[in-house]
Amino acid sequence: MFFTLTIFLNSQDSISASKSKIVTDSLPGKDLFRRNCGMCHFVNKPFIGPALNRINERNKNWLISFIRNSSKLMLKRDSITMVLYEQYGYVEHPNFKILSKNEIKEIITYIERASNSNSH
Ligand code: HEC
Repeated sequence: MFFTLTIFLNSQDSISASKSKIVTDSLPGKDLFRRNCGMCHFVNKPFIGPALNRINERNKNWLISFIRNSSKLMLKRDSITMVLYEQYGYVEHPNFKILSKNEIKEIITYIERASNSNSH
């Protein structure tokens, strides 16, 4: 009984995982993420930059300004930006002024949907 239940639960897991993959694949933010952020970030595990699966804990406007123009936040000595800067070996985050606010919002939506809460 336990065995059957385990198989059942596992198959439910993979069904919901593949469903969420279909959903995230169709988001416009996925391609934008792959092209602009993928060389340094994975959503669910650290790479050159941190894993991004907890960004929903950050303020949305802060996220948009950090992604678009973190240099501006650095100049203002924004506290979160300064802590990240110290934690990640004094590497300045690239600016993405070429992306519109809307494109950045699409990337954030993609990251939030692709976030796997199990790997926090
Ligand atoms: C060249 C490598 C690189 C690229 C490209 C890059 N990042 Fe980063 N990212 C980092 C590093 C390193 C950090 C750690 C903070 C720092 O160094 O300033 C970081 C931090 C972050 C954070 C802060 C995480 C937190 O804890 O709040 C966010 C959000 C983020 N990146 C989003 C993005 C997005 C979205 C893109 C693409 C549009 C992107 N990054 C592209 C390297 C990169």
